[in-house]
Amino acid sequence: MSMKFNMFNIPNDELPTKWYNILPDLPEELPKPKNPEGKNAIENLQKMMVKECLSQEFSTQNWIDIPEEILQLYFQAGRPRPLFRAKRLEQKLKTKCRLYYKSEFYSPTGSHKVNTALAQVYYAKKEGYERLTTETGAGQWGTALAYASALAGLKCTIFWVRAVHNWKHERRTLMHLYGADVNASPSNKTVSGKRLYEKDKNHPGSLAIAISEGLEDALNDEKAVYCLGSVLNHVLLHQTIIGLETKKQFELVDDYPDVVISCLGGGSNFGGFVMPFYHDLLKKKKEIKFIAAQSQASPNLQGEYRYDFADHAEMTPLLKMYTLGHKTEMPPIKGDGLRYHGCSPILSLLRSKGLLDTVAYPKDEKYVFERAKMFVGSEGFLPAPESAYSVASAIDTALEHKNEEKVIAFNVSGHGFMDIAGYKEVLSLP
Ligand SMILES: Cc1ncc(COP(=O)(O)O)c(C=O)c1O
Repeated sequence: MSMKFNMFNIPNDELPTKWYNILPDLPEELPKPKNPEGKNAIENLQKMMVKECLSQEFSTQNWIDIPEEILQLYFQAGRPRPLFRAKRLEQKLKTKCRLYYKSEFYSPTGSHKVNTALAQVYYAKKEGYERLTTETGAGQWGTALAYASALAGLKCTIFWVRAVHNWKHERRTLMHLYGADVNASPSNKTVSGKRLYEKDKNHPGSLAIAISEGLEDALNDEKAVYCLGSVLNHVLLHQTIIGLETKKQFELVDDYPDVVISCLGGGSNFGGFVMPFYHDLLKKKKEIKFIAAQSQASPNLQGEYRYDFADHAEMTPLLKMYTLGHKTEMPPIKGDGLRYHGCSPILSLLRSKGLLDTVAYPKDEKYVFERAKMFVGSEGFLPAPESAYSVASAIDTALEHKNEEKVIAFNVSGHGFMDIAGYKEVLSLP
């Protein structure tokens, strides 16, 4: 396709029909989840989760078929989503770098989270479940699961980190429009939530606490199943649709990235975007630099690489990951989807091998949101607060290599139409 165009897309009939599973290609075997001493967390989790997702979690197959029904839903949710060349931004930055961004903001609920929500709900319905329970931070994952549940005619219960639940009023309404049951977390609906809620009715909550609540709710209802929006292998697997499309789009442009960037909370958009490129690094010896953009409020990739719980109440098995500690308190930020103590085990392993770089931006978010404003002013799209970290890192990289012809690819994981109050506050806009 001619470089005179700024937008690149593949035809519908070239939408990838398989997800890419990186497990067999990793430099060494992924450390297995472990039971904490004296507990049967692995066995308990198996009762609370979708069986097909658990089987994908440990699959050694390189490529996993996307069922026809999910492909149909992907089309309806706007896939394939275009790759854009950010020419106006390049000019504004006076950089010789070529900047490309993937448009996950073209999503019915606002982000990449629908890519796995549609898959998880499809399998849950097939397995006869009637209700899905989950956590959410930014609210993007909760909305995505509410949307997928509505399409499938299933019920959805969401435990939403209170610090975000209380300011994203429109997003809360959207979840209600999809028919979801929405609870500020910690709530008084579960034992683990109540313990914290009774001590502090304004407890800001965290993803780790909301995960405990979602798990507990599912454990007490055999018609319910728990779905997680990040961290786990099968979630990243479903998200590889992003990177697989992007690679095909780069073939159309006849270009290839030197640097691949995205924001990272638990790792789902980052993993989904970058893993197909890691394939080229691990299998074809391509030289690519990977950068995960985080907040100094929760720079989990700068934590310790060790076994830790994924939730606050210690209901999950232990996962080997970069972690800040599952009980660590972190201050709420506007990009709260990034405020999680641990990084996905797959990406943690890659980091432990020196294959993943990271940057963490100041907690007040002024720097990051100023970068997002620059992007809005030149490209026209308003990124979600979390995606603003990806944009900031891409701009910084383009400035750092101003006089080199580096190719930089970054993912804009969602839009910020329901987060405008956050931008207004941080940037003191009228
Ligand atoms: C738009 C958006 N991007 C990124 C993230 C971070 O999550 P993950 O690291 O799983 O992509 C979130 C989390 O809620 C989000 O809403």
